[in-house]
Order: sequence, then C-alpha cells, then structure tokens
Amino acid sequence: MGLSATLWAQEDPSTSYDGKEISRRYGSIYDTFTAGKWLNLESLQKLIQETNSNSIEKLLESLRKKDPQLMEQYVLAFRSRSLQESRPMAPRTLLVANDGKFILAYNGHPKDSGYNSLEIMAYQENTEKFELREMTFDEVENPQLSAANPSKCLKCHQSPNRGDVDPRPNWEPYSIWPGFYGGMAGREASERLAKMDARFRSEDQVLVRDAKEESENLNKFLSEVKPKHPRYKSLGDFHFLNTTNLTEILAALNTHRIQRLMENTKVFKDYKWPLFSAIKCANIALPKDVAEAHIENTQEIRTRRIEVTKDLFEGRKEFADLELKYVSASYMTNDLTFSLIFEPLGVSTADWSMDFRTEGGRFAFSERFGTPFLARQSFYYEARKRWPEMEGYTCDQLEQKALETTYDLNQIQRKLTGEELRNKVLSRCLGCHSSSETSWSLAPQITFDQKDLLLKDLKDLKLTPKSFYKKVVHNTGAHATVKDQMPPGQSLSNSEREALLGHLKQLLDL
Ligand code: HEC
Ligand code: HEC
Repeated sequence: MGLSATLWAQEDPSTSYDGKEISRRYGSIYDTFTAGKWLNLESLQKLIQETNSNSIEKLLESLRKKDPQLMEQYVLAFRSRSLQESRPMAPRTLLVANDGKFILAYNGHPKDSGYNSLEIMAYQENTEKFELREMTFDEVENPQLSAANPSKCLKCHQSPNRGDVDPRPNWEPYSIWPGFYGGMAGREASERLAKMDARFRSEDQVLVRDAKEESENLNKFLSEVKPKHPRYKSLGDFHFLNTTNLTEILAALNTHRIQRLMENTKVFKDYKWPLFSAIKCANIALPKDVAEAHIENTQEIRTRRIEVTKDLFEGRKEFADLELKYVSASYMTNDLTFSLIFEPLGVSTADWSMDFRTEGGRFAFSERFGTPFLARQSFYYEARKRWPEMEGYTCDQLEQKALETTYDLNQIQRKLTGEELRNKVLSRCLGCHSSSETSWSLAPQITFDQKDLLLKDLKDLKLTPKSFYKKVVHNTGAHATVKDQMPPGQSLSNSEREALLGHLKQLLDL
C-alpha cells in the first residue's frame, strides 16, 4: 500500500525545515473530515428540537437527512476503554465533524454501559480548548445536556493532578490503536498484533485478542449488522483510513493546546529558546550533567521499547538503529524534548500528549507526541505560525540563546527551597500512585505525603517502612533497572531525590 511508505518515513533530526513539505501534508489531511462544519452544541440542540429527536437513533437519522456526507466520517471501536463499552457487532462509533472540532460518540448494544448517552467533544477555536459534554437520552423528554467538562469525563481526559480544567483528546499518538477497525495505521491489525500477545499488560490482552478476528468481524458487521441496526444504518460507507486521519487531525488540534499551555507557563520567555532549537534544529542544549543523565536514561528506555515492538514491522530494525543513533547523538524528538525542557521546573507534561495510558507509547511506537507523520515537523509547522518572531534566528543563534537560558533554568532549579522541591517530587510520585482508578492504573496506591494512609498502603503492599524506604532508595537511584526505575523512564535530580528520601525518613521515623 502506498501509505506505508510515508508512515515509516523517519525524519533525519539534523535537518532543519522550511515548512514546505509540511504544508503539502496538511493540505491532504484537512480534506478528510470537512463535512459537518455547521455542527456545534447549539445547532445540534436546535436540530434535536426541530426534528423531535428524543433518541440517539432518531438523532442519527436527522443528521443523515441534513448532511449525508457527514455520515461517512466515522471510526468504529470493537473494544473501547472509554465509558461506552463496545463489542465487535455493536462498536462504539466516533462521528467526526468539522475537521475534528466536533465529535459525537455512541455505542450500540443496550446492555453496554453508556448506551443512553451521546458523548461530545468540541474544540473551541478561540480558547484552543477541548470541551466535553454528555447528552443523556431517555426517549421521552428532550435529551439532557451536561455542564461543560463534568468530572466524570476528566478522570480520563486529563491528568488527575492538573489544577485547572483542560481536557485533551484520548487518542494514540502513533497510528496504532488496537480496538478500532482499521486501527493499525488504517489497516487491519490481526496478524501483526497477534504476534505480540504476550508482551502486553492484562488490560491490553483483550484488545489484542479481538484484533485477530478483526477482518472477519468487520465484514460481518458491515454486511449483516450495519444495514439493519437502528444506530448504524444511518452511517454511510466505511473508510479504513479514517483512523489514521483522525489521529492526524486530533494531533494537530492538540498541538495548539500544547502550545497554549507552553505559553502560559511563567518561564516560557526563556523556554522558547531551547524549544525552538529543539524543534527547528533538532538540537536541545542542556547543561552537561542534566544532558548526560537523560541520554543514558533515554537510551535504555528506547532499547526497551524497541524490544517490545520489534516484531511489529519489517523494517523495524532499521528504524531502531536510526533511533538509537540519534538518541545517542543527543538528538531528541518531541516526546523527550518537551519533558526535558519543561519537567525540570515542575511543569508537568503528563497530559499534554493524547496517549491514553500507554506509558510513553506502548502501542504507540515510542513517541508520546508522535503522529503518523513526523512529529517534530508538524509541531514546528504550527510553532512558526504562532511565534513568527523566532523564525529569524539561525540554529547557531538558537543554540547560543538556549544554552544561556538552560543555564538559567538550572539556576532557578537550584533556587527552589527544600519545601518546594519536596512538593514538586511528591506531586510527581502521587500523580501515578494516588490514582483513584486503580483498576486501570498499574501503580499501587502509595500515599507518600500522609503518614497514616501511607502506613496503611504499606500494609497492603506487605512492606515494612524500612523495606519500603530501601525500595525507594533503589528505585530512584542510578542502579535501578529500567523496570524498577521511578518515576518510570525518568530520573530524579540528586537534589530531588534527597528531598524525597529526607521526607520519607522523617515521615516514617527512620
Ligand atoms: C474510563 C476512561 C474514560 C472516561 C471516564 C471518559 N472517556 Fe472519553 N475516551 C476514552 C478513551 C480511551 C477514548 C479513546 C477512543 C475510544 O476508545 O473510544 C475516548 C475518546 C473520547 C471521544 C472521542 C475523541 C477522543 O478523545 O478520542 C470523545 C468525544 C469522548 N471520549 C468523550 C467523553 C466524554 C463526554 C466523557 C464524559 C462523559 C468521557 N469521554 C469520559 C476514555 C474515557
Ligand atoms: C508514571 C507513573 C509513575 C510515577 C510518576 C511513579 N511511579 Fe512508582 N510505580 C509505578 C508503577 C506502574 C509501579 C508498579 C510497577 C510494577 O509493578 O512493575 C510502581 C511501583 C513503585 C514502587 C514499588 C511498590 C511495590 O509494591 O513494590 C515504589 C516504591 C514506587 N513505585 C515509588 C515511586 C516514587 C518514589 C515515585 C516518585 C519519585 C514514583 N514511584 C513515581 C508508576 C509510577
């Protein structure tokens, strides 16, 4: 298929871009979900009123009558980790309008959770924010629309430790989304995923298992179920490539969100130098000690990820070699760049990416911010438009400025008080270890900041305060294996580690 050639195109990080290539690419994405420009919350409610659509079925039929082309803009999940359960013959459907800026989701089996609700995600152009709503149908009254961003939705659509409300889409950053028909970069996943069975967490197994029957199930669904089913018959033809296109389009919208979040950090006026140096010139200048620790780390993480995904594709070996070469040469792509630049000062990038619990790209190759095409390029494309004043600088000048500011950045970091440092580290650990959704989270509950609760957690974990402390010493230390390392895939700075250990010692009277 012609597609695979572009999908596996690997960027040479030493290239700087002039943006031409990217605009070509954008030209092609933006003509995939163009129907439904008229759709927004108001017009949807108006349509419901006018057509008396008090059920999801009726609403879908009204949408079809008004805008038949819209009804071809959908993707189907035979397994979903969302609130709407799905199954191969009653898939969760995402109907995508207005270039991804308005998405409606529903499922199709009365026994599945979420059957009576329509989930909505609307991207607000003026604020560059995503807004989530739930519309509940009881088939008697007019449907009820929730307030914006109910906490029910935020649980999964933003990091639990974010203070302000700022949801993001959940979507695999690379174009491999098991559970969706055509989820393997617009193709069926079956054989490729089947090979990977044993490598995944238990929660992934079911996605992988079903993927084996993907082709058969899809044919059956399209020929036997869809034509008659009240919720699917209004849909138009099924298009395999919609999954890939949705990835691209959501990633592009999310890029705007990320760039806004970056701008809103107090430190952005300094950070934009290393950021631009990284995205324009693939060169991220960091103080030597910080860089070395991260490169070592990164290389290990990459090697592990490559282990995990190496059976996936032919040509993978070449890709892996390339990746290692560039990482060892300290070239970074977006997933690392963003965390490297922003995390040291306590700006969490936890929910910047759209990846849904992939732990940094489990299915998603290894790019938290990747899209099927070139992540850095697409980010740069948007960045040039947004911060045109940065364009005039050469790579040398950017590096120079970046080094100055990353030096400052290191200084600022040293200036954090012990208390601030401790809180910063604890909030990072708690981000995973205090998740309320234990069924999804792999991280055990460890309440690092409250003695009584912590002691209780340790009991559950069958750890004594002493053995726990030793574990933390090991897991956060330089000799932790990739598997044990905490936080996973990243290392604490010496001072952060000291702050954490000192805090635990005191809290546990050791
Ligand atoms: C249990 C986790 C979870 C919760 C809670 C959740 N979602 Fe999602 N949501 C997902 C996942 C995972 C996806 C990715 C696509 C899929 O699997 O259906 C998703 C996708 C979506 C999408 C499609 C666009 C996108 O982000 O990919 C919409 C729209 C959406 N959710 C709306 C909502 C709304 C509205 C709520 C609250 C009523 C909500 N979600 C609550 C997990 C969740
Ligand atoms: C990105 C999520 C994440 C972050 C951030 C994180 N952890 Fe973990 N942690 C995990 C997961 C997942 C496990 C379980 C690993 C396993 O079972 O293989 C774990 C396990 C642990 C364990 C072992 C518990 C046991 O039962 O043996 C300790 C100790 C630990 N983490 C400490 C920390 C500390 C300290 C921090 C902050 C410096 C931290 N973690 C940050 C995800 C995280």
